[in-house]
Amino acid sequence: MEFFQLLEQRSSCRSYQRKSVEESSVQKILSAGSKIPTPSNAKQIEIIRCGETELEIVKNRMESGYESALLKWEKQEAAKKVRNRIRNYYRFSNFMFEAPELFIITAKERKSISDLFLENGIIEEKKIDEDAITAGISLMSMTLTAEAFGLKSCILTAPLFYLENPKIDGNRILAFFCFGYEQNIPPTAKI
Ligand SMILES: Cc1cc2nc3c(=O)[nH]c(=O)nc-3n(C[C@H](O)[C@H](O)[C@H](O)COP(=O)(O)O)c2cc1C
Repeated sequence: MEFFQLLEQRSSCRSYQRKSVEESSVQKILSAGSKIPTPSNAKQIEIIRCGETELEIVKNRMESGYESALLKWEKQEAAKKVRNRIRNYYRFSNFMFEAPELFIITAKERKSISDLFLENGIIEEKKIDEDAITAGISLMSMTLTAEAFGLKSCILTAPLFYLENPKIDGNRILAFFCFGYEQNIPPTAKI
């Protein structure tokens, strides 16, 4: 498929068929997300492909984060609008558990040039989040590769709101990426 057509047709998907994704496509998507430019060739991005165990861990941690967000809302006596946002963003998070494939995009703990300059008083504040930028490159690469295989996907950062300590194996979690074959929801009948 032509590259510009891929860019044109790309869109996020939040509902997937049960059909599993061919292993060769999953591996190509993983490779596209890993073979990316990184600052000072740090190769700091690690992508975790979720199996049953990881799914269970993340799901449980998110559920308790959601409960505690609602409790905090109650304590703060914040506006109803805030509670609605807590609920909405949770819905915009947990559909990822129904996707045939779910990746966690993480960054290895390391000392970047920014950290070195900061520690030594060369700069007063961190100017950029290189890991977040690199994760974005990885995510876009995977998104377009998925499209090329006729798959649909979604990038997610909302789940991070519900994770108390967004780390896995000591690595910082930056985003989630789910994909599969799109579920075509029939249009609601007009009456
Ligand atoms: C950094 C980033 C984080 C996102 N996080 C979420 C998310 O947590 N949940 C979700 O449903 N969509 C998420 N999205 C998808 C956006 O909502 C989506 O790209 C936007 O609404 C435009 O729609 P489109 O991708 O179909 O063009 C995210 C997109 C980006 C780039």
